[in-house]
Amino acid sequence: MTYAAGVDIGSTQSKAVIIDEEGNIVATSLDDTGANVIQAAEKVFQQALKAANLREEEVDYVIGTGYGRYRVTFGNDQITEISCHARGAVKMFPDTRTVIDMGGQDTKAISVSAEGEIVDFCMNDKCAAGTGRFLGAAAQALDLKLDDLGVTALQAEKPVRISTTCTVFAESEVLSWLGKGKKLPDILWGVHQSIASRSMALLRRVGIEDKITFTGGVTRNVAMVKALEDRLETKLNVGEEAHYMGALGAALFALDHILNSRKPVSEVA
Ligand SMILES: Nc1ncnc2c1ncn2[C@@H]1O[C@H](COP(=O)(O)OP(=O)(O)OP(=O)(O)O)[C@@H](O)[C@H]1O
Ligand SMILES: [Mg+2]
Repeated sequence: MTYAAGVDIGSTQSKAVIIDEEGNIVATSLDDTGANVIQAAEKVFQQALKAANLREEEVDYVIGTGYGRYRVTFGNDQITEISCHARGAVKMFPDTRTVIDMGGQDTKAISVSAEGEIVDFCMNDKCAAGTGRFLGAAAQALDLKLDDLGVTALQAEKPVRISTTCTVFAESEVLSWLGKGKKLPDILWGVHQSIASRSMALLRRVGIEDKITFTGGVTRNVAMVKALEDRLETKLNVGEEAHYMGALGAALFALDHILNSRKPVSEVA
């Protein structure tokens, strides 16, 4: 049997995916990236191997992606996360024309052709106000778990309008609304709205075309999915594997490499 792997070392979380020869997911693994990036890469890969019940030698090709892709020291190659998220999204949802990836530090909008090629992409510059980190700062200020953030926000009745555009000030604005007696869900829904509005600006820059596939860790947040769907006035493609889409794309590129290297030289473009 042939196996390929993708290891996505994000600024916040590291993901690994192992696929078989048909491109089916055999195992996934997730962990915080932390300060030791090389170690995080090794850890998620080893965890995925264990979950797949495979030895390292049984995986023929490994591609690293994400901000820490050059720290995947055991990897055979590296590919940018833009390419990998688009590849994973198109594999899972072949009708994808637009991808929005929301991670810990960056939000990326990618426009994809009917053939699955990248047409254009755009990302937030050096500012985490439209990302998971902004949500994380709000959760911390309110002493909430990330898992509870979205569910709580969906209980909003009179949402507040968050005016800060900076993660650093998010905490103080959230606390000041609490001080003014605003309810937790109303503040949180405001935070989600603020992020959704920033993401819309990115999406507009690449052009919004249905279907839109949502990838990255923030897909786990039900309120973020709803806030985006409300603004886009359409349902998003959000798969179970949405958090692993970059790693999946990397694994698919790794599988391409394996299958191409088996072709006679005359057939390889
Ligand atoms: N269970 C969860 N519930 C809600 N949100 C979550 C959950 N798990 C992760 N997240 C969000 O996902 C974010 C991490 O997503 P992801 O792994 O895609 O980021 P990353 O790839 O490390 O970052 P980047 O792509 O910006 O470098 C966290 O910041 C957090 O906001
Ligand atoms: Mg990422």
